[in-house]
Amino acid sequence: METAKLGQAGPVVGTLGLGCMGMSPGIYGPSDEAESIATIRAAIAAGVTLIDTGDFYGAGHNEMLIRRALEGTPRSQIVLSVKFGALRDPAGGWGGNDCRPQAVKNFLAYTLRRLGTDYIDIYRPARLDPTVPIEDTIGAIADTVSAGYVRHIGLSEAGVGTIRRAHAVHPICDLQIEYSLMSRGIEAAILPLTRQLGIAVTAYGVLSRGLLSGRIPESGSKGDIRVSRMPRFAEGNLEKNLTLVDALRRIGDEKGATPAQLAVAWVRSRGTDIVPVIGARRRSQLDEALGALALSLSAADLARMDAAVSPDLTSGERYDPTQMAHLDSEVRH
Ligand SMILES: NC(=O)c1ccc[n+]([C@@H]2O[C@H](COP(=O)([O-])OP(=O)(O)OC[C@H]3O[C@@H](n4cnc5c(N)ncnc54)[C@H](OP(=O)(O)O)[C@@H]3O)[C@@H](O)[C@H]2O)c1
Repeated sequence: METAKLGQAGPVVGTLGLGCMGMSPGIYGPSDEAESIATIRAAIAAGVTLIDTGDFYGAGHNEMLIRRALEGTPRSQIVLSVKFGALRDPAGGWGGNDCRPQAVKNFLAYTLRRLGTDYIDIYRPARLDPTVPIEDTIGAIADTVSAGYVRHIGLSEAGVGTIRRAHAVHPICDLQIEYSLMSRGIEAAILPLTRQLGIAVTAYGVLSRGLLSGRIPESGSKGDIRVSRMPRFAEGNLEKNLTLVDALRRIGDEKGATPAQLAVAWVRSRGTDIVPVIGARRRSQLDEALGALALSLSAADLARMDAAVSPDLTSGERYDPTQMAHLDSEVRH
């Protein structure tokens, strides 16, 4: 697999990353532990090095799963990206974000233990804590860099003001943010700024949570946040969005590619500073995503895809109103 350097001072990673969120139960419905571990190992065998998680995915479950999957893999071969800050409760509920300096160090201590490692490659706050200046949070992570527990600092769903302020405290290697045919909000101001500052983008939701594959979760699926909370999967919107995927499929049929592969290739076509972090949780999905790396899209292909699927044509926001309110990236600075 080709590689890319994340930002000016960041790590070198395979040009496709693997996000493990959906491998913990209760996020995208049930999950299969053995298949999850096999998927992580298959990804590494294929050249994936960037593995993304959050300490709050399954309240620690995701990190412990990754630890088991990485047994036997040299630590230096993997670039572990970990998000922190989101607060959970025993029933699986959410309790806001805590990014106070002391909380940063506390979260990190538990993460290192759960992952069975003595350093994290990229550590990032998942969301802003409105009560804590970003300078304080980044300053605390910078202390852990100096102490050798963290190698690089990243951001997640941050807007332009926060990116500038954070980068002034310590170099930011990448911004993790949603970017897809359906979600292009970063193009107006965020992407120009990351490019100006030499910060990479690690793109998630490249398949709009699976919607762009055309394979949708069952409507009764228990513990699937797409069904319970995501507007694009809501009745009325879903049907309309799937007609867009049908248009994408027709283009893919001519090129011998699936809609999901076109969606991954589209994000890759937007720049070498953008690394898709794919949420494959089965080996078959991983293989499909890897197939996109061989796909080359002409300007005419891209124009047809833009006409088939765009934010204007998409029904529903990328998050529900409560979660949208927590996205610094959606705030006008
Ligand atoms: N920074 C943030 O705020 C943030 C937010 C969300 C996620 N993330 C990170 O980004 C990663 C990816 O995000 P995501 O999972 O929401 O987005 P995604 O890659 O758009 O969607 C992944 C889902 O799409 C479905 N799918 C169908 N075909 C696939 C294929 N060929 N390859 C991969 N998936 C396929 C799967 O659902 P089924 O198995 O149900 O079919 C899978 O769970 C997460 O794992 C997480 O690490 C970060």
